[in-house]
Amino acid sequence: MNDGAHATRRKWSLKGKAWTPTDNSTPAAKCAIRLWLLDNMKRTRTLECYGSEQSMFWQVWCKHAESVAGATGDALTYLRAANLDYDIFDVDCYGSPYEAIEIIGQRALPDRIAIAATDGSLRRSAMMRSKISSYLCEKGGFDNEDKRLKAAIFHRYPVFCRLVLERILSGWQIDQFAVKYAEGGAWKNATAYFGIILQRSQDTPAGVGPAA
Ligand SMILES: C[S@@+](CC[C@H](N)C(=O)[O-])C[C@H]1O[C@@H](n2cnc3c(N)ncnc32)[C@H](O)[C@@H]1O
Repeated sequence: MNDGAHATRRKWSLKGKAWTPTDNSTPAAKCAIRLWLLDNMKRTRTLECYGSEQSMFWQVWCKHAESVAGATGDALTYLRAANLDYDIFDVDCYGSPYEAIEIIGQRALPDRIAIAATDGSLRRSAMMRSKISSYLCEKGGFDNEDKRLKAAIFHRYPVFCRLVLERILSGWQIDQFAVKYAEGGAWKNATAYFGIILQRSQDTPAGVGPAA
């Protein structure tokens, strides 16, 4: 598995203490987003894109979803090739979920889908005034040098998250959108969990988007 994002994040240090990714350190917020999506979807065939049969599988999907499958290998590679006939996509990654979401938007087969995502990228970069990825800058039209923009992204994250989603999800309308932040102080609080329910625009047939 290409664990590039994971490996990069392991290099961080905080006051000399090595940063170690902690899977599902805020499961309540993540569960709440997923349960809310399940409540609002008629069909609930679910694909776990990052790390299957772990915490969210046992706490949510295996109890409440119609079915649940797990992607194998690198998530982006898998999403570019697999038959995406699923209603719910769990994009529970360490870094940016937006690249995966863009591919899902281009390749998902149903006309109504839900996505649960962990965003450890956009709000975290804004909080640290560190570099926002070139992908997000391009999609969101963000200027990495603009410190006031970074403050705005941190404090008004849902606005900027939705802006990026609208730009990468052509052919879909965002029907519902919810955001929660990880709990446990400012550092953790920079990680966002969001859920979106998407309805395909009437003039866009399934699976016609170019590969991302
Ligand atoms: C935040 S954890 C999510 C765990 C799981 N979804 C759960 O409910 O506990 C992120 C997971 O993504 C996996 N991962 C890291 N890089 C990946 C990649 N490029 N493609 C697929 N999975 C990856 C990690 O091994 C880890 O299991």
